[in-house]
Amino acid sequence: MRLKILLLPGDGVGAEVTSAAVEVLQSVAARFGHDLEFSEGLIGGVAIQKTGSPLPEDTLNKAAAADATLLGAVGAPDFDSLPPEKRPEKGLLGIRKALGVYANLRPVKAWPSLIGSSPLKNEVVAGTDLLIVRELTGGLYYGQPRGFEGERAINTMSYSRAEIERIARKAFELARGRRKKVTSVDKSNVLENSQLWRRVVTGVSRDYPDVSLDHLLVDTCAMQLVLNPRRFDVLVMENMFGDILSDEAAVLAGSIGMLPSASVGDGKGFYEPVHGSAPDIAGQNKANPFGAIGSAAAMLDYSFGLAKEARAIEEAIGHVLDSGRVTADLKPSHPVGTSDVAKEVCKAVASGQGTGAGV
Ligand code: IPM
Ligand code: MN
Repeated sequence: MRLKILLLPGDGVGAEVTSAAVEVLQSVAARFGHDLEFSEGLIGGVAIQKTGSPLPEDTLNKAAAADATLLGAVGAPDFDSLPPEKRPEKGLLGIRKALGVYANLRPVKAWPSLIGSSPLKNEVVAGTDLLIVRELTGGLYYGQPRGFEGERAINTMSYSRAEIERIARKAFELARGRRKKVTSVDKSNVLENSQLWRRVVTGVSRDYPDVSLDHLLVDTCAMQLVLNPRRFDVLVMENMFGDILSDEAAVLAGSIGMLPSASVGDGKGFYEPVHGSAPDIAGQNKANPFGAIGSAAAMLDYSFGLAKEARAIEEAIGHVLDSGRVTADLKPSHPVGTSDVAKEVCKAVASGQGTGAGV
């Protein structure tokens, strides 16, 4: 198969983790006989510096020409004092909207060999296997009106029935391939938006009688995630709740560097690790590349239907985690660099330690 992939390394550690993911994709392509065609584009702070825009037209054209896009990270301290319109993050929000990727899937798994890396008690973390389905192209991030009126600032949370319905369907469909349980997260004791959310999700659930549904208020959910994470299978929520709760859930996986994500809609997919640009360690070969590598695996799975290849990467990740050859964020006794982790994963893929046969 010929895979046309756009790479958007972006800012900070983005370049390092993206090249780790590319190496792994190359080893999978070699093993399973696929052809990779990479293009590269600018986004975020580097794009502002080189073109004046966080999302140049050229990047959107390249995304349209590719089958799928892999992003590293965006965000740079140079822009910290600027309004949202002029920041690197605007590029990421723009491309998500342009591609129409309204569902951001963020799986969180407690890998057995990383249980000790979490500050939470082992018995709380063990066995965690949940999927956050974050609405990605609506809510507070995009709502109008927004802006400053002198010393007052305005943001709007707005969702239509159609926007809630399509994300709810995604969550129920995904739950069917898992443990058949959806938890919908809202703040319906305070927000009208959440009242509509709850009503629409409940309506959609009638089409999925084989999937159970419960509703949790977002504050309770934040607490349940660290008290009893095994109670969750699929969680579905609006954009900002999903942003916040996925960082919290990262603690269950040992480090935010572990979390991959897939952003999907009705067209092309967009793949991005959950972590940010981590400017404090950028360029030092210290960043954890597993989130980016896992995002590449998700790309093979969702955009190209290459499930066996995706499983091969996931098994190779498990193998390297077991070996303890991991970056400092996971607190191993002897941390290794980003590029070493990439090499280890490639070795495991090549030697069939990721066999793709299922764990
Ligand atoms: C994420 C990030 C982004 C978001 C930022 C960089 C705009 O935090 O993907 O979780 O808030 O969506
Ligand atoms: Mn975030």
